[in-house]
Amino acid sequence: MAREPKNFDNLLGGNAKGLSDLQLKAHFTLYQGYVKKLNEIREKLGAADRSAPNYSYNEYSELKRREPVAYNGTVLHEMYFENLGNGSTAASEGAKKLIDQSFGSYDAWMADSKAILMSAHGWLVTVFDYSDGKLYNNLVRTEHDVGLFANVHVIVAVDAWEHAYFADYQTKKADYVANALSGLNWDVLNARFAQLGGHAAK
Ligand SMILES: [Fe+2]
Repeated sequence: MAREPKNFDNLLGGNAKGLSDLQLKAHFTLYQGYVKKLNEIREKLGAADRSAPNYSYNEYSELKRREPVAYNGTVLHEMYFENLGNGSTAASEGAKKLIDQSFGSYDAWMADSKAILMSAHGWLVTVFDYSDGKLYNNLVRTEHDVGLFANVHVIVAVDAWEHAYFADYQTKKADYVANALSGLNWDVLNARFAQLGGHAAK
């Protein structure tokens, strides 16, 4: 079944810190393009000939190579738009404890998040690693499909591709990064932490 793009019009009208409707609407259109391509790739995969897969080129092989680009392009944008917007600005006790255990302090996590966003053309993705029960910051890059650890639960996603901020900030990327991090919606993030349940109680 085809995947439907989610609607994030709740962010318009000044509800996402530092982002204009012009900037957000352009970004929504780009996100919708990833959903469309994910649907197209998966539809073609359903009927693709699997008899001659090949590293250099084969239709099935190439569809499987491109599927993670469209998938992560879809899901990371959804998580990003969901964790923007007016909401609580306070981390829950559980979230704070896990951040402290993983990074040393909330401020250290913020400093590392800022450094990742300033390093990227790509994403800051804060993840919970089920292997050791700690949080890590990933820099996801190339085409949304490189750099994300396996065996993780995604908590925070912040887009630092130029299309995410250039209409509003031009080259003042640091201003976008500061607004994006201070404008995170902790109602959404605290709920994602809560999904960890007993995994985070180590
Ligand atoms: Fe984006």
